[in-house]
Amino acid sequence: MLEQTLAIVKPDAVRKKFTGAILARYEKEGFRIRAVKMRHLSKAEAEGFYAVHRERPFFRSLVDFMVSGPVVLVVLEKEGAILAHRTLMGATDPAKAEKDTLRAHFGESIECNAVHGSDSAETARFEIPYFFPTVELVG
Ligand code: PPS
Repeated sequence: MLEQTLAIVKPDAVRKKFTGAILARYEKEGFRIRAVKMRHLSKAEAEGFYAVHRERPFFRSLVDFMVSGPVVLVVLEKEGAILAHRTLMGATDPAKAEKDTLRAHFGESIECNAVHGSDSAETARFEIPYFFPTVELVG
């Protein structure tokens, strides 16, 4: 099934100038880039985006990290995009991420792990419109 997923190039990867390499990898793996923009998130935006994690011990630290610098927000599309992107990202902790995944290549810690990806169709339905109104998705 043709699906869309939200990807975020996180502040650590943007700072280290990995944005181009990550977007190139998406195209190489057959994803179509439907929308892309760079933003410096506000605290309120990051808190709202990660609201599902608000009771977790790392919530404050995750929000502080996500507002520490600009991020690149991307809508990716392909057959089975959500799982395909999760697989391409690798495990949350880059030290445990499978070889040749984005986090293995570009991540440095469980927090500074280079990329975010929607983890289910339900999450993607929340995350994509959180940052992109329909008019910004290129047909
Ligand atoms: S879970 O249990 O599957 O929901 O958790 P997970 O997908 O592994 O992690 C959710 C997001 O929280 C970040 N994370 C952390 N940040 C800081 N410190 C610690 N210890 C930590 N553990 C997990 C992780 O990078 C995930 O961010 P996103 O943006 O969703 O990838």
